[in-house]
Amino acid sequence: MTVKLTLPTQSKMLSKDFVYGVATASFQIEGGTKSRLPCIWDTFCDIPNKIADGSHGEIACDHFNLWQDDLELIESLGVDAYRLSISWPRVITKSGELNLEGVAYYLNILDILISKNIKAFVTLYHWDLPQHLEDQGGWLNRDTAYKFRDYAHLISQALGNRVYSYATLNEPFCSAFLGYEVGVHAPGIVGKEFGKKAAHHLLLAHGLAMEVLAKNSPNTLNGIVLNFTPCYPESDSLIDISAAAFADDYFNQWYIKPVLDGEYPEMMSQLPTEHHPEIHEGDMAIIAHPMDFLGVNFYSRAIYRGDEEENFIQIDAPEPRTDMGWEIYPKAFAELLVTLNDKYTLPPIYITENGAAMADKMVGGVINDLDRVDYYQQHLNAVNDAVELGVQVHGYFAWSLMDNFEWAEGYLKRFGIVYVDYDTQVRTIKASGHAYKALITNR
Ligand code: FCB
Repeated sequence: MTVKLTLPTQSKMLSKDFVYGVATASFQIEGGTKSRLPCIWDTFCDIPNKIADGSHGEIACDHFNLWQDDLELIESLGVDAYRLSISWPRVITKSGELNLEGVAYYLNILDILISKNIKAFVTLYHWDLPQHLEDQGGWLNRDTAYKFRDYAHLISQALGNRVYSYATLNEPFCSAFLGYEVGVHAPGIVGKEFGKKAAHHLLLAHGLAMEVLAKNSPNTLNGIVLNFTPCYPESDSLIDISAAAFADDYFNQWYIKPVLDGEYPEMMSQLPTEHHPEIHEGDMAIIAHPMDFLGVNFYSRAIYRGDEEENFIQIDAPEPRTDMGWEIYPKAFAELLVTLNDKYTLPPIYITENGAAMADKMVGGVINDLDRVDYYQQHLNAVNDAVELGVQVHGYFAWSLMDNFEWAEGYLKRFGIVYVDYDTQVRTIKASGHAYKALITNR
């Protein structure tokens, strides 16, 4: 059976300028934990019952040792770009200096990417906060934003002109809400009063780092990566519609609006004052530093019902669903992009993550993940629909290059277009990986 990914022949996404890539994150693939400082995810994994399969990141995909093979694998996929993240606790010492060994690890990766003509999209923070900073309050401590600025300064100087694009943060929503409000991600803090405070310090960190990057690295594309889970009402009733609007402000607009418009959604006035962030004079202007691009991560939508007591209740995702239980609803992707384009003056958009966990089976050495190919096909079509409606999308990254440590789900959920056998560390390109390669190379 041939599995193909196609786009209409006239599609702008078939132009050679459109960037196709694969994405990973340091904690999810590297391992090599003994060669760096501990981070909040090391600590979190040690707490019983936090990770579904009781696993940790000590080895993960062993990319710390296998990086050269992995770069060849990336090259073999024919991609234009590779999105990776830098592990802050690998490159900065406790006293705030560069750890030259850790820096050398990334310099080698970047130099090889350059030699292979693959653009490096570097994320500075994909959730692996140094534990010693968490011990000082982590993202609830305003000072962490300044520590991040200092890290951004040192690392952008050290990496020089090897980088094509810097993203300050990956998905501050997840860091703030999952990490400091519902506690299902590291550091596991629970309390409605904490989420927005952590979010503000993350956004401040972003703005401060943007200032530094604009100075140190004016020729890279500098921006942020935000995740969006578009919010739909369960019915046409007013109460459901306003529940979905509230959820949208809470989860989505809360991050994009300050970054682009320099203010939080008006909905803040409906939150108890104890839940408000602590905003200092000048913060919002820093947060709204102009950006060269916006990274958009999309996986699914959410459906809400209104409720007298709670502001909103999320209802169970309808089928079809991925192995994560996330609804497959590509229409929301196109609608999201078009809506953002209507609401905001957007910089160029890169889809920095999109993909699906599926219950892959290796049969006779082959992973025929037609469900994942289908997911990619539908979502590429959705992006193309948005592009046709005038949204400036300049690139698309599959999440993920390879199966990896999927946070609270451990190794149970496979998002890769390459299969990883965690016993042998052998990588096998899945049908989706072959299809993605064919789409890219046949342009
Ligand atoms: C995103 C994360 C990424 C990965 C995917 C499935 O929220 O940025 O690391 O876990 O979800």
